[in-house]
Amino acid sequence: MIQDALFGEPKISIQTEGIKYAGSKLKLLPDILGIINSLSAKTVWDPFSGTTRVSQALSKSGYEVISSDRAEWSKVFATCYLMNENEPGYYQELIDHLNSMPPISGWFTENYGSDKPFSECGIKRPWQSKNTRKLDAIREEIDRLELSEIDKSVALTSLILALDKVDSTLGHFASYLKDWSPRSYNDLFLTVPQIWPNSASRNRVLCGDVFDLTKYVTADVAYLDPPYGSNNEKMPPSRVRYASYYHIWTTICLNDKPDLFGKANRRKDTSDTVAGSVFEEFRKDSEGNFIAVKAIERLIEEVNSRWVVLSYSSGGRATAQELVKALSDNGDIKLVKEIDYKKNVMAEMKWTNEWLSKIEEPHKEFLFLLDKG
Ligand SMILES: C[S@@+](CC[C@H](N)C(=O)[O-])C[C@H]1O[C@@H](n2cnc3c(N)ncnc32)[C@H](O)[C@@H]1O
Repeated sequence: MIQDALFGEPKISIQTEGIKYAGSKLKLLPDILGIINSLSAKTVWDPFSGTTRVSQALSKSGYEVISSDRAEWSKVFATCYLMNENEPGYYQELIDHLNSMPPISGWFTENYGSDKPFSECGIKRPWQSKNTRKLDAIREEIDRLELSEIDKSVALTSLILALDKVDSTLGHFASYLKDWSPRSYNDLFLTVPQIWPNSASRNRVLCGDVFDLTKYVTADVAYLDPPYGSNNEKMPPSRVRYASYYHIWTTICLNDKPDLFGKANRRKDTSDTVAGSVFEEFRKDSEGNFIAVKAIERLIEEVNSRWVVLSYSSGGRATAQELVKALSDNGDIKLVKEIDYKKNVMAEMKWTNEWLSKIEEPHKEFLFLLDKG
């Protein structure tokens, strides 16, 4: 059965929606679904949901999905896509109303907007102020309307998707471009997210650190897509620090006008000392083991699922040997799938020694299937 998932055609294609996000598994969706579809599973936990693209694809494929992440904005996306029971048209009036708000200059414009490019004012900002003025007006209106949690999540998701289309960044908010990006000249315009009516209480949406949730969540499959850390000794905490890269989406969801710091005006509570994830840690513990690798080991052990599908990227903190140990200490490795984006090649390997050397090569993504029995 697992062999069918390996070599079976045609590829599954499912429409999902999301923002630009480091480590988004958009391109891997057919492979992830192919593996999970071979398992006769009913429930899947996606505890590093990020953009929620994997959760969306799983829910659309008929699975009962538990979606979670430590990022507040990911919970908002998951609530929008997985908990909504209405047809998209139900939200058109709300979205039209938000688009009709007269722009105002408020907190977001002050901190994230500018009328001029860096060359003229010496300040880099992620949006042109014509768009942050719309953001200020729309965000205030969303609170004023006192919407239900699901309706509010649909409105906020629509706002974030629209802002993502007119930003002037390289795809994250840790630093901004010197010159306005071509897309930043476009006008912010909200559309109804590509939602579909879910059956009542089919899915669950949670928010929090994965280790706080393992005690409460049981599912047939856990799809684990943690941050990869970095194997670059010189690089501080990680290659991607999610809380600090995407702070602005959290602020838009909370609308809490937090204290800010640094040139990128990040939330103070996303500084590396406060918000680093254990999976992003580059240091060793007192016993000389990499903290990030230990965290992956602990997670594989603690998840209450027979099947674990683990995403991993070469260049991450764990070495091939360490991953083999973490996986094989907890069950049988049934499959290792290698995806080389640069060469656009995919390979499936049945035997550990086939991929042990490859995992150290750059630009590779791996999917492991573990049977915990
Ligand atoms: C590689 S990304 C996941 C991408 C996601 N699968 C997608 O397709 O968009 C890793 C995610 O882990 C989350 N994260 C980091 N540390 C976490 C932790 N300790 N508990 C829960 N989530 C965490 C980050 O917020 C980030 O969204």
